Amino acid sequence: MSDTAKIAVSNQKGGVGKTTVAINVAGALNQRGHDVLFVDLDPQGNATEGLGLEAEYEAQPPTLFDALTDHEEREDVDSLIVSHEEMDVLPSNIDMTSVEPELTMAMRGRERLTQVLDALDADYDVIIIDCPPYLGNLTDNALLAAGNVLIPALAESTSKRALEILFDQMEVLEAEYDTQIRDLGLVANRVETTNEADAMLTWFDEVFTDIPVWEVRKRVTLQRAFSAGCSLFEVEEECDMTAVFLTIAEDLERQFGSMEMSA
Ligand SMILES: Nc1ncnc2c1ncn2[C@@H]1O[C@H](COP(=O)(O)OP(=O)(O)O)[C@@H](O)[C@H]1O
Ligand SMILES: [Mg+2]
Repeated sequence: MSDTAKIAVSNQKGGVGKTTVAINVAGALNQRGHDVLFVDLDPQGNATEGLGLEAEYEAQPPTLFDALTDHEEREDVDSLIVSHEEMDVLPSNIDMTSVEPELTMAMRGRERLTQVLDALDADYDVIIIDCPPYLGNLTDNALLAAGNVLIPALAESTSKRALEILFDQMEVLEAEYDTQIRDLGLVANRVETTNEADAMLTWFDEVFTDIPVWEVRKRVTLQRAFSAGCSLFEVEEECDMTAVFLTIAEDLERQFGSMEMSA
């Protein structure tokens, strides 16, 4: 699995578009010919639901909870994967709501997702991990397992503090685990034409000079695709944001040279 590109879609603020961006970036990468595994690490299971897999969220054990907490169950992780028309999915489950304290007690509790992904038999070009809306063991697991982060943020002034907190946490993980977490880019999401949004887009461009800053505008088609259980690429309705998600996918290919070769 060593040359699989792994991307955590993270921002501890809720409602900024992590799940929407994760699903549509996965859809765009699939569109460009990559084999994608989508991991829903949010105990609320929004992505699992948004990919039409509600039954998986309610499923009886073993689930992702068991793969993360039990080293024997981890070996069977392939059996937890379900297929979706655009990607394979490692779904979240209601049991994930009690995983945080388990991970706190567990040996190597922040490296469990790394171990789970290492145990996969199936081979993927890219793994996208949708993070929960808070910092904790699960988000730490995602950041350490991926080593790469894609950050959605609203074009609102409250995003400044949220980003500061996320970058602080990434720095702590890098120091404590002697690793690097690469920032792949910032997705300014649900952008509307307002003075505040304009000011924030300018601020993003000024502050994030060495990473790409993309702009995803507010579009009901994104909500409709979510309700239809897929990305923008599988709905009939035209949407100008498909081009933006394709640009993001192309840029990610550029950043992961190896992924480009396996397309
Ligand atoms: N670009 C967008 N345009 C319109 N609605 C959006 C957009 N991005 C996200 N949303 C909506 O905003 C809400 C929160 O998005 P979501 O992706 O669930 O955020 P998070 O995963 O960060 O909590 C959802 O109802 C989603 O459909
Ligand atoms: Mg979400």
